[in-house]
Amino acid sequence: MSIQEVNDTWIYLDRNTGVWRGAPQAAQGVFQPIHWVALYRMQCMLRLAPHEGRIADIGCSYGVVTLNIAAKKPRAEIIGVDPDESRLAVGRQLLAEHRLANCSFQTGTVDNPGIPAGSCSGVVCTETLDHIPDIKPQLKASVDKLMDLLLPGGRLILAVLAADTISRNTSPLPPAPLSLHDFDFLPQKQIDRNCPRWWHMFYVDKA
Ligand SMILES: C[S@@+](CC[C@H](N)C(=O)[O-])C[C@H]1O[C@@H](n2cnc3c(N)ncnc32)[C@H](O)[C@@H]1O
Repeated sequence: MSIQEVNDTWIYLDRNTGVWRGAPQAAQGVFQPIHWVALYRMQCMLRLAPHEGRIADIGCSYGVVTLNIAAKKPRAEIIGVDPDESRLAVGRQLLAEHRLANCSFQTGTVDNPGIPAGSCSGVVCTETLDHIPDIKPQLKASVDKLMDLLLPGGRLILAVLAADTISRNTSPLPPAPLSLHDFDFLPQKQIDRNCPRWWHMFYVDKA
């Protein structure tokens, strides 16, 4: 994929955006544009996500994934949720620049997202569960909370860094490394094998 294709196709953070001009320190360390490998991960997630209804992006960080879902799925309503207000502020600036009417950001967590139960056609939670220290004993309870947000037939899409297989030279370990086996409590876990091997991406459809 060329830089031009990224420019034409994706919403990303770069040094010409108001985000950088307004508060450069707010976006430090953010992909510029989003890291190539993460771009392929985002494409996989977009293929799996529903086209309509409410989609919650839990642990949305700077909102790059959230905004791209909104841009690619105009019939859906996307809500980005994160506990870090400074990251949400970056997402809101990008939202103002790209003027997407079907997207919003709000403060919340996996356990308290501030979204009514049973109201979402999709829930996305990428590279977030493994960023919550000491989550392992509560992992099933937290995933149950995400499932609770779904309507019947809705889809939960999860991705964690593949801490068990990736090279430590290419990516540092997340605070709470998780493997696919940590999710064995899920009844049917569909694994997306197209996702770059830096991550395990998988989804569950609610009965
Ligand atoms: C690596 S970023 C994930 C970024 C984004 N989802 C992606 O895939 O590119 C991890 C995010 O998890 C958020 N986070 C930390 N604890 C959380 C919690 N308990 N619930 C939801 N998000 C949390 C952090 O604020 C951070 O923005």
